[in-house]
Amino acid sequence: MVLSYVYYEMKCHLLLAMIGAFAVMVVAQKQEGFISLDCGFPIEESPYSDPSTGLTFTSDSTFIQTGKSARIEKQLNQNFRKPYLTLRYFPEGKRNCYSLNVNRGTNYLISLTFIYGNYDDLNVYPNFDLYLGPDKWRRIDMEGRSNGTKEEIIHIPRKNSLDICLVRTGTTSPIISAIELRPLRNDTYVTHSGSLRRSFRVYLSNSEREVRFADDMYDRIWTPFFSSRFTQITTNLNINTSDTFEVPKAALSSAATPRNASAPFIISWKPIPSDAEVYLYLHFAEIQTLQANETREFDIIMKGVFNQSGITPPKLERLTVFSAVPLQCDLDGCRLELVRTPKSTLPPLINALEAYTIIEFPQLETNSSDVVAIKNIKATYRLSKISWQGDPCLPQELSWENLGCSYANISTPPRIISLNLSASGLTGSISPILQNLAHIQELDLSNNSLTGSVPKFLANIKSLSLINLSGNNLTGSVPQNLLDREKEGLVLKLEGNPELCKISSCNPKDKKELLVLVIAPIASVLIAIVVVGLFLVFRKKKVPLDVHAPPSLPVAYVGHSKHSEPSFFLEKDKVYLFRGSRNDK
Ligand SMILES: *[C@@H]1O[C@H](CO)[C@@H](O)[C@H](O)[C@H]1NC(C)=O
Ligand SMILES: *[C@@H]1O[C@H](CO)[C@@H](O)[C@H](O)[C@H]1NC(C)=O
Ligand SMILES: *[C@@H]1O[C@H](CO)[C@@H](O)[C@H](O)[C@H]1NC(C)=O
Ligand SMILES: *[C@@H]1O[C@H](CO)[C@@H](O)[C@H](O)[C@H]1NC(C)=O
Ligand SMILES: *[C@@H]1O[C@H](CO)[C@@H](O)[C@H](O)[C@H]1NC(C)=O
Ligand SMILES: *[C@@H]1O[C@H](CO)[C@@H](O)[C@H](O)[C@H]1NC(C)=O
Ligand SMILES: *[C@@H]1O[C@H](CO)[C@@H](O)[C@H](O)[C@H]1NC(C)=O
Ligand SMILES: *[C@@H]1O[C@H](CO)[C@@H](O)[C@H](O)[C@H]1NC(C)=O
Ligand SMILES: *[C@@H]1O[C@H](CO)[C@@H](O)[C@H](O)[C@H]1NC(C)=O
Repeated sequence: MVLSYVYYEMKCHLLLAMIGAFAVMVVAQKQEGFISLDCGFPIEESPYSDPSTGLTFTSDSTFIQTGKSARIEKQLNQNFRKPYLTLRYFPEGKRNCYSLNVNRGTNYLISLTFIYGNYDDLNVYPNFDLYLGPDKWRRIDMEGRSNGTKEEIIHIPRKNSLDICLVRTGTTSPIISAIELRPLRNDTYVTHSGSLRRSFRVYLSNSEREVRFADDMYDRIWTPFFSSRFTQITTNLNINTSDTFEVPKAALSSAATPRNASAPFIISWKPIPSDAEVYLYLHFAEIQTLQANETREFDIIMKGVFNQSGITPPKLERLTVFSAVPLQCDLDGCRLELVRTPKSTLPPLINALEAYTIIEFPQLETNSSDVVAIKNIKATYRLSKISWQGDPCLPQELSWENLGCSYANISTPPRIISLNLSASGLTGSISPILQNLAHIQELDLSNNSLTGSVPKFLANIKSLSLINLSGNNLTGSVPQNLLDREKEGLVLKLEGNPELCKISSCNPKDKKELLVLVIAPIASVLIAIVVVGLFLVFRKKKVPLDVHAPPSLPVAYVGHSKHSEPSFFLEKDKVYLFRGSRNDK
């Protein structure tokens, strides 16, 4: 007999009707490093404590400059938790991005929730693309998903900022309801390369209660899963789970065995895509009180992939069996069997399991000092260009307007090589931040209302071949070093600045004239520097843009771990490895 259960990508019924019934005792629970954003929620009423979990949610409005707020239809309110009642939708722009501050190198559980809820009264489910930084994460097609959908990965950011972008693909506006980030331990959910995308995370129980925070200190969501072919065992006894994986007691205190005690316990599912690399985490604890003459022992088998024999779950303690190398299932899907050994008097048992597929985010972001510089320029000149969100150069087809980038290959971060802010309403002086665009070749600031002098530092940007400052209100004289660069081939456009001292008349041989002409610019340069300095100091405090990325090249991405395969025994003999049939990469 085959106990088969197919998960076609477990649909997440964000089911919430019953959640209210569980009083949540969470006051004392830490939420260290958690980011919980309720998209579209008014900032005036933020933060608040989600009544069903005790999680502190804040409005998303300080993490994104675009989009509009909306609410799901009133009569749907009772179906969803509070953080899912509002949403942000994006009627404008091709790409809209959240920019979040994270800790580089930390393993994060990143969960996004999308609930349409007929907010616009059009009854048209949206579809759009989701990007993580420069890489496409997934197409979100909400067709028929009246209960919404969730997308979850375990990912280690390469930088201290993380862009989550929604990209319009058709006529519908992208939407998002909630963004949740939870830091995990770095010694769990380790992959050889790439990130983990959740296929499912279940605990074997015929209840309908989702287990998450505060039962799970990392706020992993454990969905109940059961079948008529299973027999349920539960316990009220305490289970020792306080180590590495920290599977919540609530998810371990029930388990399933096959109803036919001599048949194997089988779970099957189809990973997406079917040839995806799969990581599995199986959690066991003996929760039945065994008699002296009773034993439980079984083999864990995925045909052609691995065979781990002789598993005996420890009494009231968690045992986790996981794949240290990625597994590849048949084209028909994955089929996990727990097969009772001949000496066992009891059928196999399992308490909880998690399945993931590998998802790669290979593209290196734009050079981080260029990113910091251009974000600073955006803030300094208060530019509100809708395309100026997310990575400036990537993906190429969504790169920022008015910017030019150089692209080498996927493992070389792009550089910004041109900036054209012609007729962009710029005011104030020419910002020294411009010199941080160290590879810029063409700089067009023409037709604005820039004042102050032509700064000397422009001559220090060795890569520059064209500077267009015409049509502004610049004053003073042109620095000699810039004129020298012009002789070497730099194209320098200055016409249309009525107060700017013309090049020829500014370099007289006469010393008196020189003195007059030079002192004024020095004074104005000093004033400009002070003004710009003060401006920057105050601007930085006000503008919640991420300018924390270090002004260096991003470190090479080395995947999640360098573990050599067999030496990966965590917690002494309590964690087993699946030895994959595939070779270690
Ligand atoms: C939505 O959730 C409800 C309650 O769990 C369920 O009855 C219904 O089938 C779900 N709808 C869809 C489309 O999954
Ligand atoms: C739980 O397990 C750990 C590790 O095996 C052990 O050190 C600890 O003493 C156990 N705690 C209890 C209460 O049994
Ligand atoms: C129970 O499983 C065994 C082994 O797979 C099988 O031979 C037997 O027919 C099953 N019994 C029932 C009642 O299905
Ligand atoms: C174990 O012993 C009990 C009596 O102590 C007996 O009823 C039971 O059948 C035995 N079970 C097995 C599997 O031998
Ligand atoms: C799994 O391994 C055990 C012992 O190594 C062996 O007895 C059993 O036949 C194997 N099962 C499969 C399906 O390969
Ligand atoms: C900058 O853009 C304007 C129009 O948007 C264009 O006329 C001008 O040639 C551009 N400058 C450069 C250097 O390409
Ligand atoms: C410089 O800007 C002016 C005004 O926008 C424009 O007419 C001119 O063509 C530009 N020159 C170059 C070389 O881009
Ligand atoms: C810049 O201004 C000049 C004069 O007003 C105008 O002829 C030209 O078209 C403008 N160029 C751009 C790029 O806006
Ligand atoms: C330059 O300044 C003058 C007076 O301050 C002003 O009338 C004029 O509009 C300005 N020109 C530009 C291009 O901003």
